[in-house]
Amino acid sequence: MKKEEFIPLESQKLSEKEVIAKSENYYKKISKRRSVRDFSDKEIPREVIESILKAAGSAPSGANKQPWTFCVISNTELKSEIRKLAEIEEYENYHGRMSDSWKEDLEHLGTDHIKEFLEIAPYLIVVFKKVYDLDEEGGKLQNYYVNESVGIACGFLITAIHQSGLVTLTHTPSPMKFLQTALGRPKNEKAFLLLPVGYPATDCKVPDIEKKSLEEISFWF
Ligand SMILES: Cc1cc2nc3c(=O)[nH]c(=O)nc-3n(C[C@H](O)[C@H](O)[C@H](O)COP(=O)(O)O)c2cc1C
Repeated sequence: MKKEEFIPLESQKLSEKEVIAKSENYYKKISKRRSVRDFSDKEIPREVIESILKAAGSAPSGANKQPWTFCVISNTELKSEIRKLAEIEEYENYHGRMSDSWKEDLEHLGTDHIKEFLEIAPYLIVVFKKVYDLDEEGGKLQNYYVNESVGIACGFLITAIHQSGLVTLTHTPSPMKFLQTALGRPKNEKAFLLLPVGYPATDCKVPDIEKKSLEEISFWF
């Protein structure tokens, strides 16, 4: 690929005070994000989901390969099918595949193999990572740092959902091969995350958990 032309960076010129205020305000806002498992079935305009996906698609990626596909599901029958298939895998996880210590670590969340939210939330977004790309003749084209890139795009996606006043859950009903089959995705795509998106239920409650302190998560040199 030829070298792209360079263009001036679009950026705001801010004072130090403004930068401090902006960083504090953003922390205040993002720290209110929580994983939600109890959704309202209230509809969401399609354009909201489009903006959220465009935000996710603006993420950085190895060599700008953008190795991701977002499948958006609002069809009732397909959501029911996905719930059924996810619960089959999750039943196996909770009744054998998960280690005792894993189950102990999940206990405080009160989760089990029942995934009602997969039918209630108005939208499901399934994120696929493109392990490699395909050229027009079906030949393999390399992607770089695929997990890192798709993980960052999912971070953008989750943040955009929160910023829009909606909620989501980072869901991994593993193994997730059933999603590739159910959604007819090509062999170079592997399901990465499943995110129900919607408003929280009126009486929604979340586990009372704490985040590690700055001292615990950072070392300054
Ligand atoms: C990679 C990943 C996979 C997760 N998988 C599940 C899942 O399958 N089911 C679930 O209920 N929560 C899942 N979670 C949500 C976590 O339980 C949740 O993020 C954690 O308890 C912290 O809560 P918070 O998101 O409200 O801060 C997952 C989170 C991540 C980052």
